[in-house]
Amino acid sequence: MGEACVADAFGQFMIMKKYFFLLAVLVLGIALTGTGCKKTAEETAADGKVIKVGEFASLTGKEAAFGQSSHKGTLLAVDDINASGGVLGKNINLVYEDNQSKPGESATIVRKLISRDKVVAVLGEVASGRSLEAAPICQDNKIPMISPSSTNPKVTAVGDYIFRVCFTDPFQGKLLANFAKNSLKANRVAMLTDVAAPYSVGLAGFFREPFTANGGTLVAEQKFSSGDKDFKAQLTAIKAANPEAIFVPGYYTEAALITQQARQLGITVPLFGGDGWEAPELLQIGGSAMEGTYYSTHYSAEDTAPAVQEFVKKFRAKFGGETPDAMAALGYDSAMVLADAMKRAGTTEEPKLRDAIAATKDYVGVTGKTTLDAERNATKGAVIITIKDGKFKYVETINP
Ligand code: PHE
Repeated sequence: MGEACVADAFGQFMIMKKYFFLLAVLVLGIALTGTGCKKTAEETAADGKVIKVGEFASLTGKEAAFGQSSHKGTLLAVDDINASGGVLGKNINLVYEDNQSKPGESATIVRKLISRDKVVAVLGEVASGRSLEAAPICQDNKIPMISPSSTNPKVTAVGDYIFRVCFTDPFQGKLLANFAKNSLKANRVAMLTDVAAPYSVGLAGFFREPFTANGGTLVAEQKFSSGDKDFKAQLTAIKAANPEAIFVPGYYTEAALITQQARQLGITVPLFGGDGWEAPELLQIGGSAMEGTYYSTHYSAEDTAPAVQEFVKKFRAKFGGETPDAMAALGYDSAMVLADAMKRAGTTEEPKLRDAIAATKDYVGVTGKTTLDAERNATKGAVIITIKDGKFKYVETINP
């Protein structure tokens, strides 16, 4: 707001002073916000002409594939929202930052997004460990956080401001246990868990329980830590236990290296994992060793549902022909669910926005219908993907 504008407004105030005081105040208000004054972008934002939404993502580093995909989906959603008139008469302005896939960074970033950028809500993350870092900060500040694709139950358990638009790992673990038993016909399974990732530790447990309750045996349980590159010792022990399949609840980098090294050691049984395997890098790192492996995830671009095909088309057009994966689809839906809640709330203020997100019911998105339950989780179907002839191939859909 320039000085001239203030002087101008003051002049109008002097003329109006013979009228009722209330009227004068009203006119002063109008003069101060009038179009006569040019404002910088910051001033406009501060005036609330845009709605600032924060996003934290692993845009670089070990799980860059997660952040890149999720971010692109989120960007496409913001484009779509703004192209159709925005929300509450304003455009959404996505303020995003890269946590470099590094521990500790997400907390710092989210603190900045809230205190410096004054975002009204936060979108993120993919990896449960990083969502778990940011969630307490959002909760303490009463800023709603919507994770697109963190599946560990502990994420939303942080508090009533934390939501997710994907299924959780108790569901994923159980479906993988059924898949091992019924589709792979494996009663003897070995498991290799990333003890440094809350996602991996969680999913291992949610697999173990239903698998063994159903008569299956875990013939070997081995451990590794995110970033490890040599898995020969664990795989040698697993080979000796003679499993019919190997479950690797972990992320794509290690999953691909583990599969490669298993084949080098002459292990021929199928390997399988959860959504952490989903990334084009799985094939780039693992190469032909990935043939005949399986994993569960949230969506398939091969789905013929009109909502999916329209999304795939728009995503390809915006990102140079790239086919969106599950993280992109969930990133898209996370922003859409937020915008829908803002519209229903009629405001971005708390606790009204939080309450509107919590009330999300049958919101039709790319990854199916989102209804948030009392624990702020979604219930959705999963798909099984296999690798065949060097390509990801859809196998089946498993509904809750
Ligand atoms: N569900 C994983 C986690 O919670 C992240 C993930 C989601 C990875 C979707 C790939 C696809 O850590």
